[in-house]
Amino acid sequence: MSSYDVIIIGSGPGGYVCAIRCAQLGLKTAVVEGRDTLGGTCLNVGCIPSKALLHASHMLHEAEHNFGAMGLKGKAPSVDWKQMLSYKTETIGQNTKGIEFLFKKNKVDWLKGWGSIPEAGKVKVGDETHQAKHIIIASGSEVSTLPGVEIDEKTVVSSTGALELSKVPNKIVVIGAGVIGLELGSVYKRLGAEVKVIEFLDAITPGMDAEIAKTFQRTLKKQGLEFQLGAAVQSVDTKGGKAKVTYKLRKDDSEHVEDADIVLVATGRSPFTDGLGLDALGVETSERGQIKTDGHYATSVKGIYAIGDCIDGPMLAHKAEDEGMAIAEILAGQKGHVNYGVIPGVIYTHPEVANVGATEEQLKEAGTAYNVGKFSFMGNGRAKANFAGDGFVKILADKTTDRILGAHIIGPMAGDLIHEICVAMEFGAAAEDLARTCHAHPTYSEAVREAALACGDGPIHS
Ligand code: NAI
Repeated sequence: MSSYDVIIIGSGPGGYVCAIRCAQLGLKTAVVEGRDTLGGTCLNVGCIPSKALLHASHMLHEAEHNFGAMGLKGKAPSVDWKQMLSYKTETIGQNTKGIEFLFKKNKVDWLKGWGSIPEAGKVKVGDETHQAKHIIIASGSEVSTLPGVEIDEKTVVSSTGALELSKVPNKIVVIGAGVIGLELGSVYKRLGAEVKVIEFLDAITPGMDAEIAKTFQRTLKKQGLEFQLGAAVQSVDTKGGKAKVTYKLRKDDSEHVEDADIVLVATGRSPFTDGLGLDALGVETSERGQIKTDGHYATSVKGIYAIGDCIDGPMLAHKAEDEGMAIAEILAGQKGHVNYGVIPGVIYTHPEVANVGATEEQLKEAGTAYNVGKFSFMGNGRAKANFAGDGFVKILADKTTDRILGAHIIGPMAGDLIHEICVAMEFGAAAEDLARTCHAHPTYSEAVREAALACGDGPIHS
């Protein structure tokens, strides 16, 4: 039996970042992971592989649509799907091995196998029981199932199966117009599939600033994605490798059927805590299965903590990472802290969509008076040169104090651009602070500055 200061269950972005920080702060640390590779859902079957396919398919799109206009002549490349999948697998391997290297460098032990907690202070992995002063659950999430829909990962797939299809399908029906559905739907649309997205609500990407969501849907439609909003999927039947998706329109209860070669179920994720033994331990969970924690990530059982997708809050890798660092610092006697008001969200379609802080709808509901500063990428020289003029930056600032309350971007590199606004918000900046900061020309970032200017006396280039 080995003895540790901290044992973390799960090596996803929450768990592995937490482990490295614990080790850096002098705590003897081990991570339990049952997969063959480190990195959890994000690195193995989520964020990283999907980004590889998004990148490859975007390159194809550029070759098909924009190369000619730039004077790059010749036939657009054809898709070698096998090679694209091995590029994706190679990318995963580089990342997961990177974490193995970081564990060795920081002297973090990898306890291989699936862990359970027989009692506080003990973690069982296989036949061995290890001791730990502190146990951190970072066990992540799994695909939520839908009544009447059985995922077989062949014809009816989750995001995991969608990253491993045997070929590019002719037609794919995506259930759920959230982040996963739209990212992977975009991939297959660009690779030549017909893509139809069926969404329960009357708008895509619930929770997103409504103006951005509308523009986003229009942009995706222009790219050829089809949408059926306000429709509840009832069932999916498969026969001979094909599927029939039955859905009901919410407005009139009428029933419709859509044929598909592949059905992607992207209707959300739920906390994954199977096999940990939480009930026997008395660790409290919510109705949605989330582990209940206090402001310092402590569960209802002393010495057991939880972070990431298995607790409350947005299911985002970077939120889990920040919580991992915060709990490591707390356990090392420091003051770990996460500012939940400044957690960016990014959708890696093309154009990208990014947001931080409040939406207009939230500000209206709270009765907060605000200014809106908007700037279109059509007025940005760099974007024009790069065929990336679609989209805009929108900054919401307090009407009285000019403090930035939220920002929403649809456009090129939105996922990177959002971060200067995150830093500004973290420092409690006013829109004027951003507007008075010199931005290099020609960059996409100038659009952020122009939007900040638009909160005050007005932008220059519109
Ligand atoms: P999601 O919660 O983003 O979207 C699910 C969508 O499915 C919602 O719009 C919902 O209204 C719809 N829906 C639910 N039941 C339905 C039904 N019966 N018929 C039709 N539509 C239905 O969930 P998603 O896309 O599966 O993602 C899961 C989690 O993973 C999210 O928390 C997301 O933030 C995270 N994620 C984040 C990524 C990123 O940051 N780029 C990438 C991938 C996932």
